[in-house]
Amino acid sequence: MRTFVLRARAAPTDGSKLLAAVGQEAHPEILAHTLMNAIFVAQSHRPDVVVYLVLESTADFSRAIRFEAGAMHDIGGFDERALLGKVAKALDASRGMGKEEERAVESGVTVRTIAFERLVQELAADHQLFVMDRKGAPIREQAFGDAPCFLLTDHIPMPKKTFGSLERLGAKKITLGSRMLFASQCVVLIHHALDER
Ligand SMILES: C[S@@+](CC[C@H](N)C(=O)[O-])C[C@H]1O[C@@H](n2cnc3c(N)ncnc32)[C@H](O)[C@@H]1O
Repeated sequence: MRTFVLRARAAPTDGSKLLAAVGQEAHPEILAHTLMNAIFVAQSHRPDVVVYLVLESTADFSRAIRFEAGAMHDIGGFDERALLGKVAKALDASRGMGKEEERAVESGVTVRTIAFERLVQELAADHQLFVMDRKGAPIREQAFGDAPCFLLTDHIPMPKKTFGSLERLGAKKITLGSRMLFASQCVVLIHHALDER
């Protein structure tokens, strides 16, 4: 299983605000592009993928939306509107939830009110954690087990103090080269690197 966690620091946790923000400063389209490249291949999808989108622009709690590609019956289209529609549906389902609650949205999709750090702490128990960072070790030199988990951000960088806590959880920094890429482009290169093994 390949797991991707996108920490979307600018993405609103209100569904209609998220949809209205496409093309604006919050750039929620980054979520759609990342989902698209993590889950879809031409004429099919990758069943061995889990994606967490963690949306952090909130009046109450961050939302972590979990997409398990192999359990999704109705993946729908791969255009931005369809994918952001799924995100907005999960956000709507999460209205009124208390701290660290979870709700099922549809087959293969759940939403939780949980902070990024807490989620990653849980994932550390049974995943090999990698923080995607231009200053990391080259991906070609990295050995991967059965459950790698790749941590990425939207256009807002990971706060510096987060790197310390991720390191304490055993996360390793890996790079895809010196050029700054979109998270969605990183996902394609990660899949390629793993597909080639
Ligand atoms: C658009 S970049 C973030 C830009 C942000 N302004 C910053 O300075 O971090 C989105 C994410 O993609 C990953 N990323 C981008 N380029 C990368 C590279 N060359 N190697 C590894 N990860 C990369 C990082 O996780 C980064 O947080």
